Amino acid sequence: MYDFAADIADCAKAVETALERQLVAGPLSGPGPAPDRLVRAMRHGSLEGGKRLRPLLVRQAAAIFNVPAAQSLVPGLAVEMIHCYSLIHDDLPAMDDDDLRRGRPTVHKAFDEATAILAGDALLTHAFGLLTDAACHPDASVRIALVSELVAGSGAGGMVGGQMWDIEGESTSLSLDEISGMQAMKTGALIRASVRMGAILGGADARTLSALTAYAEAAGRAFQLADDILDVTATSEAMGKATGKDAAHGKQTLVAQLGLDGARARLTQTVNEALSALRTFGPKADGLRATARYFASREN
Ligand code: IPE
Ligand code: IPE
Ligand code: MG
Ligand code: MG
Ligand code: MG
Repeated sequence: MYDFAADIADCAKAVETALERQLVAGPLSGPGPAPDRLVRAMRHGSLEGGKRLRPLLVRQAAAIFNVPAAQSLVPGLAVEMIHCYSLIHDDLPAMDDDDLRRGRPTVHKAFDEATAILAGDALLTHAFGLLTDAACHPDASVRIALVSELVAGSGAGGMVGGQMWDIEGESTSLSLDEISGMQAMKTGALIRASVRMGAILGGADARTLSALTAYAEAAGRAFQLADDILDVTATSEAMGKATGKDAAHGKQTLVAQLGLDGARARLTQTVNEALSALRTFGPKADGLRATARYFASREN
């Protein structure tokens, strides 16, 4: 029987070990050596902490096609590096201005703003380097497909674009649909890319890819809805980051629009949508099913 607790723990450990090996001067150097301060800031923003949910989604989607966990690790690392960079930049004073992340000072607090910007830039760049390396996948056309998928999920039409909307939303009012659209981009796009990268590794046909995409889009909406609910209901200790900050910053969230009960009802409904997108899949999709449920039940 599928064991979610074992899967998430095993994935987090594999990611931590691999990041630990990647984020050192050797692999990070180019024509010149990677500066020590930059490497330390990249490590601060990436190691020891984080639920590693995006690499888990890559692994679980790939598992549907019997791709071994080890083969999905490098694509998972690439998504996780993009995610860590997005958090480093999200926390900057010019954006959400947060001091605490994963129970530690944010990168600009532990170092300084310029170093935090550069650490994010370097993680972003290294992520794509990982995907182009032959160690990622022996077939170059698969590597190119993975790069394209991650580009779509991370760029102006994905995570970065969603972050732009999020910031613009602090000073203009957004409709319910606009908030949903913003969340689908700032958070949903990387979750969507994670699932689709797992499917690409598995050589999914168009129909399977489309079912998995529907799952991922609903799961992404559920994930950010839960994040917004937890911002209101959870403690900073449990979350490892400040809470109560969305209302304080005038952030446009579904909780602000629907109230807590309305947001919770919508969360249940959204998780059900994710599950129903998997209805034609057998027990091999139990990992993705468990993760969608976890997105709604998580406490941090
Ligand atoms: C937090 O993401 C930021 C959002 C996209 C809402 P996670 O909750 O996955 O953060 P970590 O990686 O576990 O710290
Ligand atoms: C962050 O959303 C989304 C990205 C980093 C792309 P939030 O701003 O809600 O995330 P937290 O609450 O700071 O983790
Ligand atoms: Mg933000
Ligand atoms: Mg934030
Ligand atoms: Mg949040």
